[in-house]
Amino acid sequence: MSRALSYVAPAAKAWGASYVASPKAGPLLDMSQGVPGSAPAEPVLASLLKVAGTHDAAKYGPILGEPALRSALAEELRHKYGVGAQQLSDADVGITTGCNMAFLVLLMLLCPPGESSVLLPLPSYFNHAMSLSLQQVEPAYIPCSPKDGFTPSLPAARAILETARDSGSKVKPRAIVLVTPNNPTGAIYSPSLLEEWYALAREFDVPLVLDETYRDFAGAQPHTLFERPEWRETLITLGSFSKGYRIPGHRLGCITAAPELLAHIATICDCMQICPPRAPQLALIDLLPSLREDLDEAAAALRKRLQIFEEVVNSVPGWKLISSGGFYAYVEFPEEFLSAQEQLGVKEGEKVGSEDVGRALALEAGVLTLPGCFFMPDLEDKVWGSIKGGDEMKRDRWIRFAVANIDDESVKALGPRLQRLNELLGVK
Ligand SMILES: Cc1ncc(COP(=O)(O)O)c(C=O)c1O
Repeated sequence: MSRALSYVAPAAKAWGASYVASPKAGPLLDMSQGVPGSAPAEPVLASLLKVAGTHDAAKYGPILGEPALRSALAEELRHKYGVGAQQLSDADVGITTGCNMAFLVLLMLLCPPGESSVLLPLPSYFNHAMSLSLQQVEPAYIPCSPKDGFTPSLPAARAILETARDSGSKVKPRAIVLVTPNNPTGAIYSPSLLEEWYALAREFDVPLVLDETYRDFAGAQPHTLFERPEWRETLITLGSFSKGYRIPGHRLGCITAAPELLAHIATICDCMQICPPRAPQLALIDLLPSLREDLDEAAAALRKRLQIFEEVVNSVPGWKLISSGGFYAYVEFPEEFLSAQEQLGVKEGEKVGSEDVGRALALEAGVLTLPGCFFMPDLEDKVWGSIKGGDEMKRDRWIRFAVANIDDESVKALGPRLQRLNELLGVK
């Protein structure tokens, strides 16, 4: 099984555990996981405490979530995207057991196994690639160039769609999936860029699926796609309560789509989840509008942290921030590391890659991250043969830093750690 399709997080965890057993450069800075660093807002905790022990919360509930929560969430989305109830109604929104499950359920609906491909930007969120693999859906990777701040290439996507249309193959593209703000690169796609993707999806009559798990951290420019009267024919968006509301363990996500599509989704969800967890739904119903300020504050704090991160990283010789946003920053490591095979324990003649650097960063400098290769197929995988323009990605020069679960001071402490690795690997 290729690396992108296996579960990669434990490898990084093991580096962290090994460092903690014999620290060399101060306490471990864990920048590996995209999870919120602080507790949910106080009213959320209080409300959870109140409802979780009730009989109501223990009962099964509606398959696609509490109607009152669907309604409250629809109102939040209307507020965010500046549209009225005709453009986005309560019936367009369903609640799921987390965004990952929403994605898997959507694949089950849209993609007959063995006869489907899905366009996915590369690097890609590994759970998306794993879900495709589970469903026997082929990834049609769209390479993202660091030169474009890791935005996916529209011409490459068009070429994939044209080739599929002209080939008559039984494997057909069934969706274009974009993630913005992106995991792993942090790249935020502008409203005008998303309009272009939407137009491409319509031209080829494939759904455009936007995973907006990090939508509360996208900055001031929400996309304009819900303003289109016909959006339900093309657009499906996925969301999560894990990051903005900081309740990842309570497992709530959402899907926004045409009500007819949600009716089919409900059939699958009935078999898989029966209903999303009730306690967090009941706890949130009356709170959502009052949490807007909390969301904005958390987003502003993260933006500030990413600025500090950028200054710190770019001040260390050879390190360069390429893209950032949401919970993540994607960073190129120094070119000189490529000739540090010996220090990195890389066999002679073999290429130094992001995994070697990620390991050394953890073991020698106590900074736990996820190497870029964890978000791509194994470099030996034959799938690369079909990725047009994938050579740039194969340079494998990037590391993902997650900034949500550490504080500003820890980010400032990163500079000397990177410097330490530079010295060990011979960068002046
Ligand atoms: C792009 C993306 N989608 C989905 C998820 C999972 O969200 P949830 O906790 O709602 O399943 C994550 C979590 O890291 C993510 O980064």
